[in-house]
Parts: sequence; structure tokens; C-alpha cells
Amino acid sequence: MATKILTLLLGLVPSLASAAPFTNPLSPLIAKQPYVIYADGYWYYMYTSHWEIEIARAPTLDGLKGGGQRKTIFPKLGDDRNFYNPRLYKFDDVWWLYYRATPDTTIQRWGDKDFYVIKGGAKVTDTFSNPVKIANATTGQILQIHDQLYFLNDCGNDICIASVSSPTSIGTSSVLAVSDQKWEYVGGNGRSIGNPTPFYHNDKTFIAYELDFGAMFVEHPFGLLTYKGSGDPMLSSSWSKSGPFRNVAYRNGTSTCYSELGNFFVSPDGLELWTLYNTDNLSKGCASPQHTGAKRLDWNPDGSPNFSVPGVVEHAVDGPSGERT
Ligand SMILES: *[C@@H]1O[C@H](CO)[C@@H](O)[C@H](O)[C@H]1NC(C)=O
Ligand SMILES: *[C@@H]1O[C@H](CO)[C@@H](O)[C@H](O)[C@H]1NC(C)=O
Ligand SMILES: *[C@@H]1O[C@H](CO)[C@@H](O)[C@H](O)[C@H]1NC(C)=O
Ligand SMILES: *[C@@H]1O[C@H](CO)[C@@H](O)[C@H](O)[C@H]1NC(C)=O
Repeated sequence: MATKILTLLLGLVPSLASAAPFTNPLSPLIAKQPYVIYADGYWYYMYTSHWEIEIARAPTLDGLKGGGQRKTIFPKLGDDRNFYNPRLYKFDDVWWLYYRATPDTTIQRWGDKDFYVIKGGAKVTDTFSNPVKIANATTGQILQIHDQLYFLNDCGNDICIASVSSPTSIGTSSVLAVSDQKWEYVGGNGRSIGNPTPFYHNDKTFIAYELDFGAMFVEHPFGLLTYKGSGDPMLSSSWSKSGPFRNVAYRNGTSTCYSELGNFFVSPDGLELWTLYNTDNLSKGCASPQHTGAKRLDWNPDGSPNFSVPGVVEHAVDGPSGERT
């Protein structure tokens, strides 16, 4: 499928615009699975409340704090649809939303693994309609390598990959990664990796994935798969593993707690990569007001992301480069 994921273009348009100031937290809302993307001059902030998918937009990241202009993609119904992990992609000028949900008329069943894609229009704010079930998974994201699209998802305790021939046609899934490193047992909760989240920097492709997936382990450690640059992306031999890493830290009294990894997003001028993080409310000893924050990623000299743990950035910093000010 020859197509372009608009949001993956990096470093193409050097910008002279200065960035607007920005402070965390991005949102005081109790937002589950927050997701940020820049498109058509706006930041879009998407989140679920388990029974709704909401999307808010504002011209600056800081502007999202006021709630932005909001739209409900799926309104609340009498039943609980248990929405999870919504992700937006633009293929050939049409937006598609990938998400997990319980089927319309059933009650909440946390173990349901019904993963859907729904078609939107040329603008993110256009109506989405006609959901199609594409996989049995709780998380799923699109990976792009060499103009080819792949679907990454959790499968049992492993990470799986499938080819994508159209936004609604996902091929047969095969295992891409299993927990086979000692450090992947860091939480002591057994073999379980999941929530594969791709990101791109210069010529490199990475997939961050959670360790002890679903165990609510307090440090939220994650591993990294780095594509070797050649070879079939569907083969584990084409990737190298590193970890464990931890995301942005915050303090609860004297305890250091770690936030969950959210998605990675590109600045409006394509020059910077940012990460979204989500602090815990209920995890062990780290209950805190749940909030979402954003942080610019730094890079090591070898081109790998610098995941040394910084504290929560609550002071004013420059927002993503190339924002309209
Ligand atoms: C999901 O699982 C069900 C039951 O095991 C199976 O019938 C179906 O083909 C699977 N795939 C999708 C995409 O639903
Ligand atoms: C720190 O965590 C404890 C245990 O979950 C909780 O009772 C307390 O309210 C938290 N304190 C703050 C400031 O979040
Ligand atoms: C934390 O979680 C509890 C239980 O789900 C909820 O009642 C409370 O409102 C949450 N607090 C914050 C600040 O998110
Ligand atoms: C990586 O991040 C840490 C913490 O923010 C910082 O101290 C260090 O200088 C960074 N390393 C590089 C190579 O940027």
C-alpha cells in the first residue's frame, strides 16, 4: 500500500517560527490513554473515559489546557463500550481512527479484545462512520517502514505484527517479540510485554513496549525495539532490543513514581519529537492526581532516544517548535 502517514514526516520543513511557552500538566482531566497529534494547524488531544472518545483541539499545546474546542467522536450510550487506546492516522488524505471497544450492545467486559478501525474524512473533525473489526487485540498501532504499513498489537503475552494492505485489511499476525531478556522480568510479574508504540527519528525506527503489561507495576518500565535498517520488519531478527527504560518521574512525598508512556508526537515543523506521559492514580503507593504531561525527547550521540529519567516538567518551557504563536 503506497501511502503517506502525514504525521511521520520528520525534518522536512525547517521553521523560523518561535514556539509558544508551555507548562505541564497538559490536562487536569482524568484522561485515559491520552493521545496528541498535530494536523492542519491544530493540536488534537484525544482521550477516552471508557464510554466515550473525546477529541479537543487548540492551536498551541498550551491552549489544550483550557479544554480547547471539544468534540465527542462516540457519545455515551446506555451501555459501557469500554473504549481503549484510540489512535489517528491519515492515509491518502483520509483520517482513520483505530481503537478497542466492546461491541455496541453488550455490557462492559474488560477482557474483550475487539479492535476496530473507523473511517473519517479529510479533516479530523469530520464525522467518523462504519467501524470495521480488524483484530483481536487490546492495543494496536500502525508502523510504517519503507512506505509499507504494518499493524502492531499485543497478542497474549507477546507483541505481534501483521501486514496492512488497506486501512481495513490486516494480514495474518505473527509474533515479533517475546520476553526473552532478564531485564524484561523487572517487575517480577512474569512474561508479558505489550502496547507496542512506534516512533521515528531521522532514519531510525523504534518501537517502545511496556514490560509486565497490564500488571500496573509502579515503575512502568518499557523496552525498545530498534529496527536494524534492513531486513523484513516482520522478523524479530531485523530488530535489536534494549531496556529497561522508565519515563518521566514524579514524586509522591519521598517516593519516586514513574509515569506511563503515552504516544510520541512530532512538532509542527517536523524537527522535534515529543512524548506524552500519564501519571498514575491508583498504582502502588503512587496515587496522585492523575494528569497528562508532555516532554521533548533528547537524543544520544548514537541516535538513540535519551530516556534518562527527568522529573516532571512543571515550569514554563518552549512548546514544540514551529507552533503558531
Ligand atoms: C478473532 O477471534 C475470533 C474467535 O477466536 C475469530 O473467529 C476471528 O476470526 C478473530 N479475528 C478477528 C479479526 O476478529
Ligand atoms: C501518595 O500515595 C499514597 C498511597 O497511595 C496516597 O495515599 C497519597 O495520597 C499520595 N500522595 C500524594 C501527594 O499524591
Ligand atoms: C483517583 O481514583 C479514584 C478511584 O477510581 C477516583 O475516585 C478519584 O477521583 C481519582 N482521583 C483523581 C485526582 O484523579
Ligand atoms: C540525557 O538526559 C539527561 C536527563 O535529562 C541529561 O542529564 C543528559 O545530559 C542527557 N544526555 C544527552 C546525551 O543529551
